[in-house]
Amino acid sequence: MFEVSSEELILWIQNIKTEEEDRDSLYLLIDLLGGISRSEIYSFKIKSQKVVNMKVSLDYLSKSWAEFIHNKTPIQYLSSCCYWRDLNLEVNNHVLIPRIETEQIIDIALNLISDSTKELLITDLGTGSGAIAISLALKSSHWKVLATDIEQNAVNLATKNFKKLSNSNNLKFFCGTWWQPLKKYAGKIDIAISNPPYIPSKVYKNLSISVKNHEPQIALNGGDDGLLHIREIIKEAPKYLKKDGWLLLENHFDQAQKLKTLMLHNGFESIEIIKDMNGIGRFTIGRYK
Ligand SMILES: C[S@@+](CC[C@H](N)C(=O)[O-])C[C@H]1O[C@@H](n2cnc3c(N)ncnc32)[C@H](O)[C@@H]1O
Repeated sequence: MFEVSSEELILWIQNIKTEEEDRDSLYLLIDLLGGISRSEIYSFKIKSQKVVNMKVSLDYLSKSWAEFIHNKTPIQYLSSCCYWRDLNLEVNNHVLIPRIETEQIIDIALNLISDSTKELLITDLGTGSGAIAISLALKSSHWKVLATDIEQNAVNLATKNFKKLSNSNNLKFFCGTWWQPLKKYAGKIDIAISNPPYIPSKVYKNLSISVKNHEPQIALNGGDDGLLHIREIIKEAPKYLKKDGWLLLENHFDQAQKLKTLMLHNGFESIEIIKDMNGIGRFTIGRYK
């Protein structure tokens, strides 16, 4: 632990010359790396504290801040962790930093499942840090969750994240392409969820440096029209889902109608486009009949 006074910490913050839009990132850095939350810092402004125990020194925070400003390295990679829903997950540059809009996928899945005591087989295809799979596995020990990713480093990290949060064995990770590691579960899956790479290649080329230079391209680039992986997931889904099983996909802002058509052509019914908090048709769900 590194001891500073609350005045020293506040002075350090005041001496950092940030653009207004980077202010949130500065507080996130102090929170994730230093272990001091924004609300604690605000409370120091009202009542100062002689000793604040930080996980790293102010010098270390300064160096990390410089790395964020100059190389645009995301704070979550600098601190190796991120908040997602009620979880604190380890992340590294083999996995996407799970996004806030994806949090809703859990609520949509929970809406489809009326009974948490029912035995269910759920899959998370392209699990990355394990965010979706872990959230669901923690909700009910009656649900068996199977998560896949093509990237072995992602599978390793997701496994580590789950072990830190649970002693249960209701979540299994597999390395391989989309459904392929799940052959023995063909026809048995109740709900399949995926937030696949869906950004069209041309759009990917113009993403910000903080994304393009740091986050894995394999997690984001969805080929020419962005639908390369989505097409494969939907086409193969009928082999793996139970009759009446659900497929729940996240998609790019303008892809939902195309997903709906793809689902219709592959034997899905009850297809619905669900809007995210910005009113964008971000999720498409369908039931295999
Ligand atoms: C958009 S990220 C989603 C990660 C995580 N589920 C989340 O929501 O934060 C897509 C994930 O798909 C994985 N992926 C890419 N191609 C794949 C493939 N052919 N088969 C399985 N996973 C793949 C990437 O490694 C990445 O972890």
